[in-house]
Amino acid sequence: SIQPVLLCGGAGTRLWPLSRADYPKQFLAFGSAHTMLQQTMLRTHGLERLGDVRDPVVVCQAAHRFIAAQQLAEVGVRQAALVLEPAGRNTAPALTLAALQAVADGADPVLLAMPADHLMRDVAAFHAAVEHGFADACAGAMITFGITPRHAETGYGYIRADAAGSAPVRDVLAFVEKPDAATAQAYVESGDYLWNSGIFMVRASRWLAAIERFRPDIHTACARALDLAARDADFIRPDATAFEACPGDSIDYAVMERLPDDSTLGMRARVVAMDAGWSDVGSWDALWAELDHDPDGNATTGDCVLSGVRDTLVHAEAGRLVAVVGVSGLVVVATPDAVLVADRRNAQQVKQLVEQLRGAR
Ligand code: GDD
Ligand code: MG
Repeated sequence: SIQPVLLCGGAGTRLWPLSRADYPKQFLAFGSAHTMLQQTMLRTHGLERLGDVRDPVVVCQAAHRFIAAQQLAEVGVRQAALVLEPAGRNTAPALTLAALQAVADGADPVLLAMPADHLMRDVAAFHAAVEHGFADACAGAMITFGITPRHAETGYGYIRADAAGSAPVRDVLAFVEKPDAATAQAYVESGDYLWNSGIFMVRASRWLAAIERFRPDIHTACARALDLAARDADFIRPDATAFEACPGDSIDYAVMERLPDDSTLGMRARVVAMDAGWSDVGSWDALWAELDHDPDGNATTGDCVLSGVRDTLVHAEAGRLVAVVGVSGLVVVATPDAVLVADRRNAQQVKQLVEQLRGAR
């Protein structure tokens, strides 16, 4: 069976001030009919042809439990296991909690771990990619989904696929998480690398074996936290003391970088190339690229007037009128209590800005 796992504990700080600590980007809709979490859930519809699709396991911050539960109910999810993290420890512990929860009833489903804050234009292509990788996942491989790189992005993982392998599923020769700019540039130019989409497909027991092999400390802390968990209805609260003692690490650093070179586990890392109009909308610049533009390249929402403006994202809310004149390549976001004006090319720096704000207040 297939076990959808929705990872939605991130902070999304690069989309401040729309994405806020109490309402991060996975819970926002950005002009679409559904929020990113809901879109992620809806994207699993249709996977039934591969096998039984289980109720989702959702791993999120405890503070977001009602938002998550309500948004899932709105898209028809009647039952879910909401694993509530008392603190953020990044994705490796989150996936470990989900895997432990998935095997609790004695089953060993194939986890389909999906970040809940990505956009995908072509759901059919996503389904085809999942279908391609499914047999290998059942057989014990770790499946990644690779995107043809569009630029030398340093915020992504890079997958080197075995050119000799037969498409659509190929062995991963190397996995490099967040390389520096020069390395990323060389990877893109070489044509041998794919971006890691951040979606993973792996049998629950195989993930647990991998994390136990590479990060036994994470495995132990998560197992203890879930053993001692308090459960009420859909909410599962891992023990706070045990989980807070868990080291933080990502799936990518903790496991993916090590898996291709490991011979002890007998677990292959494989990649399915996916052309599904994927975007992780990680920054205002990325969001601008995804939105519909007017003939001058502007993407606007809310009450705005523009004159002589090009390639700019303007977002107005809370009854504010935002007027922009004679600029290009900007991001202008006005919310009830904060206004952001940024050069689109420096949109990544919003993350540091939010960290500064946190320190200062
Ligand atoms: N439950 C939970 N707990 N979820 C988390 C946590 C956590 O502590 N931290 C992050 N997440 C969720 C985020 O909400 C997001 O949906 C997903 O896990 C990935 O985390 P990011 O923090 O956004 O990772 P990243 O963007 O730096 O890198 C990952 O994604 C890239 C593609 O977008 C990596 O997998 C890269 O290799 C990949 O290229
Ligand atoms: Mg991300």
